[in-house]
Amino acid sequence: MSDRIGIAVVGTGDWGANLVRNFANLPGARLVSVCDADPKRLAKTAALYPDARAVADVAEVARDPEIQGVVVAASAVSHHPLAKTLLEAGKDVYVEKPLTLEVAHAEELCRIARAKNRILMVGHLLLYHPGVQYLKKMVAEKAIGDLLYIYCQRVNLGKVRTDENALWSFAPHDLSVILHLMDQEPVDVAARGAAFLQAGVEDVVFVDLRFPGGQTAHAHVSWLDPHKLRKFTVVGSQKMVVFDDMEASEKIKVYDKGVDRVGQVVSYGDALTVRSGDILIPKISLQEPLRLECLHFVECVRERRRPLTDGIGGLRVVKVLDAAQRSLKSGGKPVTVEPLPLEVA
Ligand SMILES: NC(=O)c1ccc[n+]([C@@H]2O[C@H](COP(=O)([O-])OP(=O)(O)OC[C@H]3O[C@@H](n4cnc5c(N)ncnc54)[C@H](O)[C@@H]3O)[C@@H](O)[C@H]2O)c1
Repeated sequence: MSDRIGIAVVGTGDWGANLVRNFANLPGARLVSVCDADPKRLAKTAALYPDARAVADVAEVARDPEIQGVVVAASAVSHHPLAKTLLEAGKDVYVEKPLTLEVAHAEELCRIARAKNRILMVGHLLLYHPGVQYLKKMVAEKAIGDLLYIYCQRVNLGKVRTDENALWSFAPHDLSVILHLMDQEPVDVAARGAAFLQAGVEDVVFVDLRFPGGQTAHAHVSWLDPHKLRKFTVVGSQKMVVFDDMEASEKIKVYDKGVDRVGQVVSYGDALTVRSGDILIPKISLQEPLRLECLHFVECVRERRRPLTDGIGGLRVVKVLDAAQRSLKSGGKPVTVEPLPLEVA
């Protein structure tokens, strides 16, 4: 019996293939099994990883005693039933984002994981990105002063999905970062968008969040855009930071810019001075965030640790997505985000 953690990946499509590649090459892990309901896809994966068992049905993964941790990278609509089956079978589970498509389903998975003492991790990849970790440290240490607002863009001409809109496909990334940096739940969410390519499936969505301390955040997501942008701008009372994931190496730029209050407020013009100082480009590790995320899952399984991106974090994001979806359907009216139920908080 190997002391490496036995891993299975369920769903080996475009993204699942990256997870299979990582787990097949990860210290401390052994890729025991790959699972896909599509025979062609399964055959393709099996050919690349002949040492892993290739199975079509998740039930086989659930009853395999050599498997401790399962990665669910199937289509979002199947996250809930697959994760539920696996948690109930006693597996530790890492579910790709979004955790589920319904709040009640995400709450149920958190409850099962807690009751069965299983690890439930969500693929909020950006929280493992060294650039986002640098941002988090700056915000937490108040190196930018007070956090005032964040805006971000995740747009490109990309994979047009049919079973989820651009909000559910892209915004989990942005919302996970926004909630992580703000470190609080939003008061309400408003979203507007439009469906141009398929009826009822929004291709572009603009989301606005308001936080209890007066901070705001805005996310623009689209798969129908000429630019490829993956960018966060974080504005603090002392400094401003830009995280641009499309930059090859200079991903973070810290601007020593702000508006200072000086002297007695006679009129606004007299009392405010604009400060435009140096720009700092810190050295950020270029390690692959997905590999760091996979290593974290294996460590959590081995050491029975709560993941950085646990089920509760996944539920928080699903709650904001759900509020944004309801706002979208109402033409942009703000929707209150209810607090987490006590039994899962
Ligand atoms: N973290 C990230 O950056 C990131 C990036 C892209 C996609 N994703 C997420 O990864 C997931 C998969 O996305 P994708 O682009 O690879 O989709 P995809 O459609 O290319 O692949 C999904 C695969 O899951 C399989 N599948 C579906 N239901 C199944 C079931 N019940 N049992 C076994 N296999 C099943 C399908 O046959 C398919 O091969 C989605 O949740 C998506 O949101 C995450």
